Amino acid sequence: MTQRAIRAPAMTFHGDPFLVPAGEALRHWPDALMRIEDGRIASIEDAEEGLKRLPAGVPVTHYEDALICPGFIDAHVHYPQTQMIGAFGAELLEWLERYTFVAEQDFADAGHARDVAARFLRELLRAGTTTASVYCTVHPQSVDALFEESERFNTRMIAGKVLMDRNAPDALLDTAERGYAESKALIGKWHGRGRQLYCITPRFAPSSSEEQLQAAGKLWREHPGTYMQTHLCENQGEIEWVRQLFPERSSYLDVYDHAGLTGPRAIFGHAVHMDEEDFACCHRTGSALAHCPTSNLFLGSGLFRMVDAKRIERPVRVGLGTDIGAGTSFSQLQSLGEAYKVAKLGGHALTPEQGFYLATRGGAEALRLDDRIGSLAPGFEADFVVLDLKATPLLDFRLSHARDLAETLFVLMTLGDDRAIRATYVAGECVYERDRPESFLYPGAASSA
Ligand code: GUN
Ligand code: ZN
Repeated sequence: MTQRAIRAPAMTFHGDPFLVPAGEALRHWPDALMRIEDGRIASIEDAEEGLKRLPAGVPVTHYEDALICPGFIDAHVHYPQTQMIGAFGAELLEWLERYTFVAEQDFADAGHARDVAARFLRELLRAGTTTASVYCTVHPQSVDALFEESERFNTRMIAGKVLMDRNAPDALLDTAERGYAESKALIGKWHGRGRQLYCITPRFAPSSSEEQLQAAGKLWREHPGTYMQTHLCENQGEIEWVRQLFPERSSYLDVYDHAGLTGPRAIFGHAVHMDEEDFACCHRTGSALAHCPTSNLFLGSGLFRMVDAKRIERPVRVGLGTDIGAGTSFSQLQSLGEAYKVAKLGGHALTPEQGFYLATRGGAEALRLDDRIGSLAPGFEADFVVLDLKATPLLDFRLSHARDLAETLFVLMTLGDDRAIRATYVAGECVYERDRPESFLYPGAASSA
């Protein structure tokens, strides 16, 4: 049995601060001792108590000027787009044609896919993200590359092969039958292997025929526990196109609902231009939304309506997505800074507690993994980050004037980025440490380092 303990200030959520007062939702230990056993949290309590109970010989790592929180969760990200972040000038549909569909063709080459997957995982960990729901490309080898690298770090990843059988370059198209068969084989290979989980991934309604959407729905029904991710109501031009392609459906979301693609473990990216019926459908079916603020601002897509999504009488599960490469940062701290501004433009202030909840437990609830990740509590998988409260001279100075935890969290949302991630732990192992000579280590190597 491997045991270790971490001592530092710590915080976690056991409720939703959109639905209950922040003080009820948040737990904060000014000085915590968290004991880890075989990759899981065995206990977390005030250090004074915890140290008395700690068995002799268990090593304690003490972080000063730090705050520990659950590993960040990225509910929507495209790993193949790591190579095209910051593509100039276009809105969604032109951006896809001019940049995205060009970059994704490179992933026919398994070597290229492995190289980008390796870089991608490191960027996630550098940003403190320990779980993500990831779009690969249409090529099955792009999925193997991502899961193989995730398996090396032992991260809990959700990912899948993109399904597209129309309205994209020929080199990126499958067919309804082929997409079904390839996805099914990948489910057999990867779903539930270690910490990896499979996500059936029709890109969006315009690039899948009705037949392919129906096949995706069938495959999802045949494999309980798998995920389904796609894009929804991101941009006005896209929404109008869906109207033309599916004239018999009452809305964009109805296209997916009709194909059996709503329900628990469905994750809809963006959901910027939603009406009340759309939100009600998500609540009713248990579908989740991924809010992608840096992307929605970068492409000029619009402003996500968080307050409407989380309306107390019919709350919708919402996670936070970077949507790399339309999104501009892997850092969920930066996503939160932009989420705050998006909410502000809509006339609301996203509280720091709501922000950190979205990036941790809220994401886990959206992904239906809140019984194992997203919280610091006994029995949970020990995925967590060590935030450095002195990461930069400005952060250090500003936080020296912070009066309480809420202000500290809000300043981290506003000024924080990957520099504020001192260490990232995955299943109890320190796989990333900013200041050690080799920042990234696979788990076996991490524990012996
Ligand atoms: N809609 C369909 N595909 C994509 C994509 O790759 N990125 C974004 N932001 N929206 C999409
Ligand atoms: Zn996306």
